[in-house]
Parts: sequence; structure tokens; C-alpha cells
Amino acid sequence: MRMRRKKHREERMESCSSLMIKDILEYKNDIKAVFPDGKPLHIEIGCGKGGFILEMAKRNKGTNYLAFEKNLDVLVLAMEKIKNEGLTNVKFVPGNAEILGEMETATKASRLYINFCDPWSKQGYKKRRLTHERYLTIYERILEEGGELHFKTDNRGLFEFSLNSFSDFGLKLKNITLDLHNSDFEGNVMTEYEKLFSEQGQPIYRCEAIFRGTR
Ligand SMILES: C[S@@+](CC[C@H](N)C(=O)[O-])C[C@H]1O[C@@H](n2cnc3c(N)ncnc32)[C@H](O)[C@@H]1O
Repeated sequence: MRMRRKKHREERMESCSSLMIKDILEYKNDIKAVFPDGKPLHIEIGCGKGGFILEMAKRNKGTNYLAFEKNLDVLVLAMEKIKNEGLTNVKFVPGNAEILGEMETATKASRLYINFCDPWSKQGYKKRRLTHERYLTIYERILEEGGELHFKTDNRGLFEFSLNSFSDFGLKLKNITLDLHNSDFEGNVMTEYEKLFSEQGQPIYRCEAIFRGTR
């Protein structure tokens, strides 16, 4: 997501500082302690401008949401949305979600969302895909047994790659659809990219992959 640097970004980030976890490794052993109330934790990687996490948090007050975003120019927009709504069940981690690979957490998240991540289509870049085995190993560290990865993309090649990657990793797949908006899936929350792609007539691919803890 290319964007011009946001005006007064640092001041705007500062005014949302209560929503930001600057050093997630402070919670290295207890990721759920990011929120003191012990509710189930769902994580989004690459929240972009935050439309998805905002709507999910509004609909599901009994769930806590932790969103990772490495582009600070979009992160600030996401944080401002949550601040303006006064929601207390969302926090943000600025930076690359790869840091989750350093967690040794005893408490775990129950769900992970990856929406419209970069397909890294060029030859030799597959390892950068957020659904590559390299990342699945990281997600396994922070997801409880039976924890779910919910994945959406507009990119057919990435979707095919991801289904194979999930399957090779021993994950159980369910609710696979090749056209989400014309499927019987209920309760879909659209992301900013999803709105753009569907307006262009692109089908949206979606699946859920379950970490069974039996590998
Ligand atoms: C194509 S955008 C999609 C944004 C949003 N999920 C949506 O569907 O509208 C992908 C976003 O993921 C972020 N991102 C990609 N890899 C990331 C990583 N490893 N850690 C944190 N954020 C990441 C990018 O900065 C970008 O904002």
C-alpha cells in the first residue's frame, strides 16, 4: 500500500498512543495480557486503514483484537478510527508481524486474520507471502490448539499457493469459497481492498485453516 507520508503523522500517532503496543516483546510470555480482561484474542496481520478491525470490534465486544501494521501512514488512520469510536477492545502493534516469531507465549490467540496480503508474484519471492510455511511456523507459536487462520484474497495464484501451503503444513481446511460474495457465507466484514476489488468485478477467495496441534 503506497501512500504519501501523512501530515503531522507523529503528533497524530502520539494522540492514539493508548491504543499502541510499542514493544510487543514485553508480552513475550503472555500475549493475552495486552488486554487485562482475559477475553478471547484475535489477531489481524496487515490491518491497513483499519475498516475491518473497526467493524469486527464493534460487532464483537466480547473479543479483543490486536492488529499488526508495518506501514505507519495507514496505521495512523486505523488507530484514529478506533479512537473516534471509543472502542477499548482493539490495540495496534506498529511494525512487522514477523516479531511474533520471538514470542514464547503461554497464553494464546484463538484466531488470526490475513486479508488481501501482497501476493509477491515475482519469481523467487514466495517466501515473503504471509501464508508461506515460514509464517505458518510463526502463527503456530501464538495460536491455541484448534486456533483458526481466516484468509481472504482477490489473487487466484496466491489462493492456490496458500491452500497447498496450509495443507502441506497439516492444517485442516474449511469453508473454502472461490466467490465469497456469491456464497452462502454469512457475516462477512469487507476490508478496504475487498471493496475496491469487488467493485472491479473480481471474485473474492476465502478459506479457514485450523491449527490442530497434532503435527
Ligand atoms: C494490500 S494491504 C491490505 C490491507 C487490508 N488488510 C485490506 O484488506 O484492506 C496489505 C497491508 O499489510 C501490511 N503488511 C504486509 N506485510 C506485513 C507484515 N509482515 N507485518 C505487518 N503488516 C504487514 C502492509 O503494510 C499493508 O498495509
